[in-house]
Formats: sequence, structure tokens, C-alpha cells
Amino acid sequence: MLFMYVVLFVVFIFILDHLLVNKRNLELSKQFNGPLRLPLIGGSYKFVGVSAKDMFGFVQNMFATYSTQKRNIVQIWVGPALELFVDDYKIIEAITTNPKCIAKSSQYSFLHAAVGDGLLFSKGQKWFNRRRIITPTFHFKILEQFFDVFQKQNSKLIEKIKTETNGHPFNIFPVITSSVLNALVETAMGFELKAKDSEYLNAVKEIGVVVATRFVQPWQRLDFLFNLTSSKRKQDELVKILKNFTTKIIEERRKLLMTKKSEDLKNLDDEDFGLRKKMCLLDVLLQSTIDGKPLSNEDIQEEVDTFTFAGHDTTTNAICFTLHMIAKHPEVQQRLNKEIEEVLGDEKLTFKSLSEFKYLELVIKETLRMYPPAPVISRRLYEEVDFGDFIAPANANYNIALFSAFRNPNVFENPDEFIPERFLKELPAFAFIPFSAGQRNCIGQKFAMTSIKTNIINILRQFTVIPSGKEPEIEMHITLKCDSLLVGFQKK
Ligand code: HEM
Ligand SMILES: *[C@@H]1O[C@H](CO)[C@@H](O)[C@H](O)[C@H]1NC(C)=O
Ligand SMILES: *[C@@H]1O[C@H](CO)[C@@H](O)[C@H](O)[C@H]1NC(C)=O
Repeated sequence: MLFMYVVLFVVFIFILDHLLVNKRNLELSKQFNGPLRLPLIGGSYKFVGVSAKDMFGFVQNMFATYSTQKRNIVQIWVGPALELFVDDYKIIEAITTNPKCIAKSSQYSFLHAAVGDGLLFSKGQKWFNRRRIITPTFHFKILEQFFDVFQKQNSKLIEKIKTETNGHPFNIFPVITSSVLNALVETAMGFELKAKDSEYLNAVKEIGVVVATRFVQPWQRLDFLFNLTSSKRKQDELVKILKNFTTKIIEERRKLLMTKKSEDLKNLDDEDFGLRKKMCLLDVLLQSTIDGKPLSNEDIQEEVDTFTFAGHDTTTNAICFTLHMIAKHPEVQQRLNKEIEEVLGDEKLTFKSLSEFKYLELVIKETLRMYPPAPVISRRLYEEVDFGDFIAPANANYNIALFSAFRNPNVFENPDEFIPERFLKELPAFAFIPFSAGQRNCIGQKFAMTSIKTNIINILRQFTVIPSGKEPEIEMHITLKCDSLLVGFQKK
């Protein structure tokens, strides 16, 4: 009798698997190497014992175990869904430049509750329309106007560092992240933060853990199961805090605009209105129309949530790790000091002079290579694409492991060493794309570089940065994650 039940159960599993798995993907997946697919669970057993902390290791391990001589594409079935991992710059080029590959992967929906379907996640016509109206607000000329705000926030930051330090190394994340967030909100949202931001910042951090855990515990990827977990209840609490923070920003700015003259409030849906009127992101969202209709409150909220989220954590990581690397390499610090002396002398830093800091640019690039703030980006194809070398299956997620691509020893000699000068040589296209590339590249790239450069120059003019001797422990959640990065500051 028992035997009968076992047989029936096994038959049932196979039938269910047969119904759920896409036959075409099954066939195409044979082009790539990967863990053995079991009925129904696929290769999910690979995630057993893996926690959010181990994500870097997990991806590295997948490449190490399953890459073939021919190519670095690894496939894994997560339940009945196909996922691919890639880190080869030629494939990265093929994906990022193909107009059929511009939708984001289904895992990004884990963040839906937190930031909605804003520019980072949306697709199709919605993404296209939004990108068109938002792009002018990140134009060079607009950034130039923001420069005073960056400078003001930097002065505040330097005061804080002075009170924190007497040369002893301390964790720089809290002060930098707060400074970056304040500058972002005051520039892009036109709103000066008065209230404390620590609750918001902490909530962003914790949401990262919730999302990363869903990635490594495949059963949590199913909404109906995730909804039963304590993580879900925690997420609900965190989302309330996030929304509370951004709603207030929108309300305040709206009030301010209401009191402005009516001539500023005309409908403005012309290509470069952001530029002409010199409006910040939030003003454009509040005042523009798409197909004759103004954006709804939810539309505006999801973009403000998205930009606040996408902009502050990435930039903070970049600044903190750059300081860490400068502290660790005294010869680099010396060269930077020399560059500052040569470009500025005793003059004040200006927006125009930022472009003259060529060596600093190499240092930032090399830091972004070793510690990319967005270590993995991800796409989903909705139709099959023939890349020549192989046929890319539709309805599969493509995880592009930038952190692994940036340490490819065939492109970057001694990839684990910090050598800023390596960027003086020409690299293969798409071998180094910390801000992604193609149509879905980072809209905040210039903003970020301006912020990073300004911070580093201002700090180095005041302090000598000193290494702590402790290597940071890095993890990957949504972005690069590091709880503590110790750097010492000696007043000059
Ligand atoms: C060092 C800092 C930064 C890095 C390394 C970075 C990196 C990236 C990457 C890799 C993407 C592509 C994501 C994907 O394909 O899923 C992206 C997209 C995006 N980034 Fe950044 N970013 C940075 C700073 C910023 C800043 C300062 C802002 C806003 C002020 C911003 C806003 C966005 C937005 C809105 C997108 C989505 C663009 C679209 O799909 O049209 N980022 N970023
Ligand atoms: C999970 O919960 C969210 C709201 O908290 C709800 O919108 C969604 O429909 C639920 N999903 C399932 C499959 O129960
Ligand atoms: C939202 O913010 C207001 C103050 O701005 C506060 O009184 C309220 O408790 C907050 N709500 C949540 C859920 O944090």
C-alpha cells in the first residue's frame, strides 16, 4: 500500500513538473552548464544553507564550478524558472545594447513594495515616457546649479568629522550616508531636510536584508508564501517608514510650488523644458504631463522613492570605499594631494575645475572596479534573442555579475590589486560599466561623479586619511553592503 502512495506521489511530481516547466527553455538551457535540474525544485537545492551574507560567494562558486572553456554563462533552475548568470563582457555588451533586452528581471519585484514601479524597474512605454521627462533634470547645467548645495553639505560633513575624530579610525558610513542623502534630497527634490533621517536610512538597510533573503531562499520568492513570513510583516513596517519620509518631501515641495507665481506652473511637456526652466526632478514630476495628463500622486511618489533609494546608497558606497582605498595607499594620497595643489592652489573648488582632476578620476574608477556599488544587475528577456554564439531564451532572468566581470584577469591584470593607472590604457568596450550601459544606464552617473569628486577633494584638503588596518567585510544585498568601514582623519 505504502509503495503505491510513493509511486503515485512521484508520478504526480513528474506530471506537475512537466506542466510547469517551459519546454523551449528546457531545450535552450542545454547550451549552458549548471547544476542538475531536479523535477519541480530545479537546482534550488544549491541554495540550501546559503544566507544573504553568502551571496557573493554563491555567485562566485557558480562560475567556478560550472563555467566552461567556451563561455561564462551558467544556468540554474529556481523551481520551474530559468536563471542565467553571466560575467563575460562580450555577452554584457550584447545584452545591454540590445533594444529587446531592456526589461528588468522578475526578482526586482521584491522591491516593489518599497519603491513602486519607478524608473529603475518600469518597462516599455511607461519607462520610456518617464525617462524622457526626467533626463533633462540630470543635465550638466542643472548639476552646475546644485554645486553650492554639494559644497554646503560638505562643509557640514567636515565639521562632523572634526568632532568625531582625533586621528582614531571610526566607521565613516553613518556620517557620509547622511550627508549624501541630505545633498540628494536638497538638490533633486528641492527640499532641505530638517528632520532626522536615521530612521529612513535604517529602514533602507533592513529592506536590503529582506530582499536578499528572498533571493537565497527560493520558496520566499513566491508571494503567497512570503506573505506568511515574519519578514513580510517587518517589510510592511519598514515600507511605512520609507513612505512617510518621501511623502513628507513631496508635500512640502508641493506647498512651496503653490505659493510660487502662476507663470511657473504652466504645462511644460516640451523636450528640454527641465533645462530651460532649470527645474529640479521633483518640480518636473509635479508639473509635467504625459499624454496630456499630469502625473498622479502615486506616479510621483514611486519616482521620488526610486531616486532617493537608487541615489544615496550607491554614492555613499563609492565615497566610503574611495576614502578607504586612498587611506590604504599613501602613494596614491600623495599624488592626489599634488593634483589638488596643482589644480586649485589656494583657490576655492569650483564646478568647472572638477573636470581637471584626472588622477582622482582614475582612483574613483579603480575603486568602482574593485567595489562596484551595484555588484549585480539583472534583465529579463520577453522574446528569444539570437546572439550568434548562442540563442538567449525568453522568459528567463539574466543576472549580470559586474563584480565578477570587473575582476576578469584577462582584462584586468592582477585584478585584486589597486592600480588606478590601469585605466590609462584602453579597455575592451563594456569591460568596465559600473553605471551599466545602453538605454538603461544610470541616469544619475554625472550626479554621482560630481558628488564623489567634491567629497573626496574637500576631505583631502582638510585631512590626511589614515588606514585602520582592518579590511571591510563586504556583502551584497541589493547594492554592495558593508556594515563598517574604519578610516582615520588627521587634521592638516
Ligand atoms: C556611484 C553611484 C552609482 C552607481 C554605481 C549606480 C549604478 C547604477 C546601475 C548599475 C544602474 C543600472 C541598474 C540596473 O540595470 O538594474 C543604475 C540605474 C539607475 N540609477 Fe544609478 N548609480 C549610482 C548613482 C545614482 C544616483 C546618484 C542616482 C540618482 C540621483 C541614480 C539613479 C538611478 C536610476 C533612476 C536608475 C534607473 C535608470 C533607468 O532604468 O532608466 N543612480 N545605476
Ligand atoms: C501578498 O500581500 C500583498 C499585500 O501585502 C498583496 O498585495 C498580494 O496580493 C499578496 N499576494 C498573495 C499571492 O497572496
Ligand atoms: C510619520 O511621520 C510623522 C511625523 O512626520 C510621525 O508623527 C508618524 O508617527 C510617522 N509614522 C510612521 C508610521 O512612522
